[in-house]
Amino acid sequence: MTETQPAVLILLGPPGAGKGTQARMLEDRFGLVQLSTGDLLRAAVAAGTPAGLAAKSVMEAGGLVSDEIVLAILKDRMADPDVARGVILDGFPRTDGQAAALDALLEGAGQKVTAAVSLEVDDAAMIERVSGRFTCATCGEGYHDHFKQPRRDGVCDKCDGTAFKRRADDTAETARARLSAYHAQTAPLIAHYDAKGVLERIDAMGPIDQIAGALGQIVGARSA
Ligand code: AP5
Repeated sequence: MTETQPAVLILLGPPGAGKGTQARMLEDRFGLVQLSTGDLLRAAVAAGTPAGLAAKSVMEAGGLVSDEIVLAILKDRMADPDVARGVILDGFPRTDGQAAALDALLEGAGQKVTAAVSLEVDDAAMIERVSGRFTCATCGEGYHDHFKQPRRDGVCDKCDGTAFKRRADDTAETARARLSAYHAQTAPLIAHYDAKGVLERIDAMGPIDQIAGALGQIVGARSA
């Protein structure tokens, strides 16, 4: 990245749009840091912290965790030194309150959003993507039963791990609730970033590599 401020990229999109898949590819390609509030919350749930205990049932039902909890977790992570390389915000912000808090946080640091990319997809296909998803239990690399299988059966392409896991909220029923939450509370943020002049839209129904190419062009152009 050649710009003076570290890049702050936002990936917007419903469950299954490919935010995590693309964020990991951008990390590898541009040296940015993926910051997924979903991953941070799942880590808090697994660790049994007070925030994790409060978030668990909300996540299992497919709702949105309170802004208070999400912002506390995000601010902690934003204070880590590696974030100075630039971040890809994956799944954040998701509400008006989170977007306003991010604006204030960046303004305080003399930074602004480099680009907010809306990954645009069909609702029906998202249920299929989410319910077929699995990840490497060792390194977190993402796969899909039909769309992205490991090159060697049962062996992670990235770390050679052989254990895989599925998310508890990746049932068709919970995915539908997550999709509703997206349309009600997160999709309106597209207009927020459009008004700021940082919105980019990508048709995210195509192959993973094609979407990665389009995203790479946006990052290159916006960071020049
Ligand atoms: P979170 O973990 O953020 O989940 P999500 O937004 O529902 O998004 P997903 O992780 O399901 O999808 P993705 O877009 O990353 O898709 P992926 O790349 O994996 O949040 C989980 C929960 O935490 C929320 O429901 C909420 O409760 C809570 N939460 C998190 N952040 C919050 C916040 N800010 N505020 C409040 N609550 C919050 O791809 C999916 C599958 O499709 C994969 O198998 C992949 O291989 C495959 N795939 C990807 N791209 C393609 C493609 N182009 N073609 C075919 N297959 C593809």
